[in-house]
Amino acid sequence: MQLTTDERLMPENESASRAVKGADGAVLRTPKELAYIVSEFAASDGWMEKVRLRTDQRWYERLYHGPDHDIWAISWLPGQSTGFHDHGGSSGALVVATGILEEHRPGERARVIHPGKPLAFGPDYAHDVRNVSVAPAVSIHAYSPPLSDMNEYELDGGRLVPRDAASQKIEADQPWGVQRTDALSIEQVLSSARARLRRLSPDEAYEATVKRAAILVDIRPEGQRAAEGEISGALIVERNVLEWRFDPRSSARLPVATDHDVQVIVFCSEGYTSSLAAVALKELGLWRATDIVGGFVAWRDTGLPTKRADR
Ligand SMILES: [Fe+2]
Repeated sequence: MQLTTDERLMPENESASRAVKGADGAVLRTPKELAYIVSEFAASDGWMEKVRLRTDQRWYERLYHGPDHDIWAISWLPGQSTGFHDHGGSSGALVVATGILEEHRPGERARVIHPGKPLAFGPDYAHDVRNVSVAPAVSIHAYSPPLSDMNEYELDGGRLVPRDAASQKIEADQPWGVQRTDALSIEQVLSSARARLRRLSPDEAYEATVKRAAILVDIRPEGQRAAEGEISGALIVERNVLEWRFDPRSSARLPVATDHDVQVIVFCSEGYTSSLAAVALKELGLWRATDIVGGFVAWRDTGLPTKRADR
C-alpha cells in the first residue's frame, strides 16, 4: 500500500526498518509506520462503535495499548481544539477518519487535514489541532512509544512557551490527564475563519459585482437594514437561511445558486459575522465565497452607492 503522508520533522534518512528501542526495550515505530497504522485502523470498523460526541470537551479513548505503540480515537465538535502541545517525546501520526481538521504551528500557515491523508511527526513536535469546520470530525492517532506525557504551550510573540505546570502524566487509559475546556473564543474562531478567506475591500467588492458578476449578499436582519440603509442591487438573504439558499444541491436554493463557482460576497453591518457566514458557504463548496472588510458601514463610508431600506 502506497501512502501519501505529510511527514513533519522527520529525519531525511529515516528508514522504516531501523530498529529504535524505547526505554523498556520495545522496538519503536517510525512516523511512517505509525501513519500506516492509523490509516489501516481508520479504514477498519475498530472505532466506529466506540466514538462519542461531547459538547463539553473533546472525547478521546485509547483503543489499543501495546508495548511499542498505542492507538487513540478522538472526536471533535465544531470549535473544539487541543491547544498547543507536544507528545512527550513520542513520535506520532494522525489521520482524519471523517470531517476536516486544521493544524496550527507557530510561524506557519494553518494546514487543513483532509480525511485519508495521514500526518506523521517525530518526537519534539508541537502543534495545535482544531476543528474550525461546521461539522463534527473523528481522527485516529498512534504514538510510539505509547503516549505517557504531554506538555502544553502558549503562543507568546510567535514562540511557544510552556504553560505553568504544563506537563501532564497520562494515566492508563485516562488521556490528557486533567480535563480542561477546549472551547475556542470567538476571536479565535473569527481569526481562523478569516485565515481561509481572501477578504475584499468595499471597492474590490464593488468592482467584482460590476465586472465579474459576483453576487453581493446582505445577511443583516431586517431591523438593521431599516436603520442603516441598503446597498443597491444586493441580494437580501438573512443569515439563518443562507446555506439553504446557496447550496446548489438544496431544494431551497435561489435561482442564482447554479453551481459552486458562483462568487458570493457576503456582508453584514461591520464585517464580523459575515466572515463566519462566508466560511460556512466555503464548507458547502462555494470556494470563491468571501466577505467585505468593514461590512455595510465601510461600504457607505467609502462613498459607494446605498439606498434607504425598502419598506
Ligand atoms: Fe498532537
